[in-house]
Amino acid sequence: MERIFINQLKNYLGQEVLLKGWVDTRRDHGKLVFIDLRDKTGVVQVVFIPHSSVYEQAKELRGEWVVAVQGKVNKRPEGMENPKIETGNLEIEATDLTILNQSQTLPISIDTEGYEIGEEHRLKYRYLDLRRLRLQKNLRKRHEVILFMRNFLTNKGFVEIETPILTKSTPEGARDYVVPSRLYHGKFYALPQSPQQYKQLLMVAGFERYFQIARCFRDEDTRGDRQPEFTQLDLEMSFPTEEEVLNLIEDLYTKIVETLFPEKTITFKPFVRLNYQEVIEKYHNDKPDLRKDKNNPNELAFAFVVNFPMFEWKETEKRWDAVHHPFTKAQNPQNLSEEEFIKYLENNPDKVLAHQYDLVCNGYELGGGSIREHNPRILQKVFEIMGNKPEEIREKFGHILEAFEYGVPPHGGIATGIDRLMMILMNEPSIRETIAFPKTGDGRDLMMNAPSEIDKTQLKELGIEIKNKGQN
Ligand code: AMO
Repeated sequence: MERIFINQLKNYLGQEVLLKGWVDTRRDHGKLVFIDLRDKTGVVQVVFIPHSSVYEQAKELRGEWVVAVQGKVNKRPEGMENPKIETGNLEIEATDLTILNQSQTLPISIDTEGYEIGEEHRLKYRYLDLRRLRLQKNLRKRHEVILFMRNFLTNKGFVEIETPILTKSTPEGARDYVVPSRLYHGKFYALPQSPQQYKQLLMVAGFERYFQIARCFRDEDTRGDRQPEFTQLDLEMSFPTEEEVLNLIEDLYTKIVETLFPEKTITFKPFVRLNYQEVIEKYHNDKPDLRKDKNNPNELAFAFVVNFPMFEWKETEKRWDAVHHPFTKAQNPQNLSEEEFIKYLENNPDKVLAHQYDLVCNGYELGGGSIREHNPRILQKVFEIMGNKPEEIREKFGHILEAFEYGVPPHGGIATGIDRLMMILMNEPSIRETIAFPKTGDGRDLMMNAPSEIDKTQLKELGIEIKNKGQN
């Protein structure tokens, strides 16, 4: 007999079916043995009747054992329905039982929301933690959201392209994770902080509309809304205006909410556009929570913050740094010629605004992007203003400056954090609740025990000698 799923049971009333899954709970009621059987689609009550061929075996069942149950789909006796579960008016009268695997008592309970369990335990046994309904829902919804993004953008002529993970440093303001090269001792790949340069090079290559569900790596302190590796919806367009990028994101996010989260309301339609300067003056931070009712998790106050300054002074390093990243286009409202504008930038780094925008929602930064500087001479000046020496510019960004000599179209884009979006949409306190295998606050994977030492042979092959071992 072919296995069916628990959410299909309503179509099989009165018929014999085969189910497979886990024993969620077992109860003995007088002579009857009941189990709640769980599969990926739900839970259903199975009853084992005394003197049936499976009764004695059913008495041995324990929580989380893996079983195949054959039985008849019956209506539950009147008054015995359970309105809390979808199959609450049904039960299976077992006629056959196969124990496919046993289970030890679980080290963490999985029948609660799990917030009360220490993170050390939850992450060490993440494969069990993920069995809980809340996390199952979060990850399944995440899949639906990503699928929606893929379809939406595909329909708008975007193409999904993978960019390298083993690459070279690209500045996004965090430290790089680096990977030593075996073939070139003393040289390192950097894991991408974002696909920023590759996506711009894809515009040089003529794809015009690119997106990627992109894994990014940033060695920075972990917080509730920050992980060392996280996922962006990353996109780039050729020939767009700033408004075209914003409208596209607004349309996508509105449709995601309306289609997949109909219980939520969007405060501003269209999303409000706010000036960075005014936002700072009014809210004293650049990601204000603009909800009318700050306690309502079903209210989504999306807004775009625009007109960021291009540069900020870094006192510790005594140099100007790009507020977003150096590839952002500086605003040239007076339409100065190239030569005049380069001079203006040099003399007024404190005054220049950027074609930069952030998407914020309920007090979180959900995304950031910009129209890019595609003029290599102006870009070169930006690198200089940031304190790079000519040979550093050649070494770090020579490939981009060269590429921009070969017919680069004007282009721009944005990247939005998928983990953060899911955190807000699923009303979770941390992005860790929306990622299958997140790191702890101090950057460890407790389940795999990473980071970990590597053996001497591997170190030797890489030409690496460890001088100072950390205390952990
Ligand atoms: P930015 O650095 O602003 O822009 O990142 C875009 C979005 O990515 C998410 N994000 C994170 N999420 C979880 N953990 C982190 N450590 C983390 N860091 C960032 C945020 C953020 O808004 N290349 C540019 C985009 C562009 O210009 O097109 C970039 O990466 O939601």
